[in-house]
Amino acid sequence: MPQVIFHKDDNVYRAEVGADTNLVVQAGIRQFPYPHLRYECGMGKCSKCACLVIAGGEHLPEPNWKEKRQLGERLSEGYRLACQLWLSHDIELRQDDVPA
Ligand code: FES
Repeated sequence: MPQVIFHKDDNVYRAEVGADTNLVVQAGIRQFPYPHLRYECGMGKCSKCACLVIAGGEHLPEPNWKEKRQLGERLSEGYRLACQLWLSHDIELRQDDVPA
């Protein structure tokens, strides 16, 4: 099962999640990383869920069109939209204090 390390506001939260876990869906049902993950639409439209991938990004699929439209140049800096990711491998993410 994937191990998720989530950095937010100088805190680090860790959990093992099920295969093919979406962190925004998880937060929506008040499971890890609730209440720490910032998100809004859950549909790739607002970019509130943007996270910097610190490790494990090599296992993620290529960004979809919603991520490309919302993140633009930030994609090349390592940002992804958490609501568009279904996690099957270990990953380490950081969400900035200020919405990206
Ligand atoms: S929650 Fe809106 S883009 Fe991810």
